[in-house]
Amino acid sequence: MTTVLDVQRFKDEGRHFAMLTAYDFLSARILDEAGIPILLVGDSLGMVMLGYPTTLPVTLDDMLHHAKAVSRGARQALLVGDMPFMSYHESAEQAIASAGRFLQEAGMHAVKLEGGGRVVEITRRLTEVGIPVMGHLGLTPQFVHQMGGFKVQGKTEAQAVRILADAKELEHAGAFSLVLEGVPSKLAAEVTHSLRIPTIGIGAGPSTDGQVLVFHDMLGLTTGKAPKFVKRYANLAEEIARAATEYAEDVRTGKFPGPEHEYSTNGSAPAKDPTEVRYGG
Ligand code: KIV
Repeated sequence: MTTVLDVQRFKDEGRHFAMLTAYDFLSARILDEAGIPILLVGDSLGMVMLGYPTTLPVTLDDMLHHAKAVSRGARQALLVGDMPFMSYHESAEQAIASAGRFLQEAGMHAVKLEGGGRVVEITRRLTEVGIPVMGHLGLTPQFVHQMGGFKVQGKTEAQAVRILADAKELEHAGAFSLVLEGVPSKLAAEVTHSLRIPTIGIGAGPSTDGQVLVFHDMLGLTTGKAPKFVKRYANLAEEIARAATEYAEDVRTGKFPGPEHEYSTNGSAPAKDPTEVRYGG
């Protein structure tokens, strides 16, 4: 199983690594079996699973619900639960209680927190009680209203200095890795070279130690023009629409179900694999 020590080793050995988001049992199992070393149950699920315009409405209970499903599907990957908006901002005590639920109830191995400043002390407190923390700086979606939209961060000298300082403080506080989102490549390279812990980039250029993409973006499930930093490795939205249209047409014309699609009665024992549906009869 991948641990936070392995993630550090990836950096020490100069090995670039991938992280992907996962939100449910089946996709987690597929990604895990494909060898993706880190699965992030991101609060991006607010958009891609729940249809919200931002991550802000996502609750701790929403996150735990999806995190539990992911941990039932994954065996090898390091599982990181994203702490949602307002689940860690009030106090270190609140943060410990929220993060503790990710580990105790949902089978996560670590949590991710957005921001520097106050979050540095919270990171220190979580690390002290044995909860590994992944930091997240740059374009931090939970700050969307403060940033005036989803905008690249770190373009001015002052912003870049702040991000580099926050990154160092998070490392010092015990974070085991750091997501850099939506920052200029040059700044991402500087942060990466200044830290001992690995950085994981999204829209931050090629110099970070790891890369992360949102599952739905990477598979072409999100439609419309993809942001420039996304590479679509499949076009599943088109493939699903094609399959659904073909199915509806087969039903309309009587081509489905055919004689080979008889209801099978192969016993009623519960399946070991919950997706292998068996029908009693
Ligand atoms: O919520 C999320 O999916 C994330 C990644 C994009 C890093 O925070």
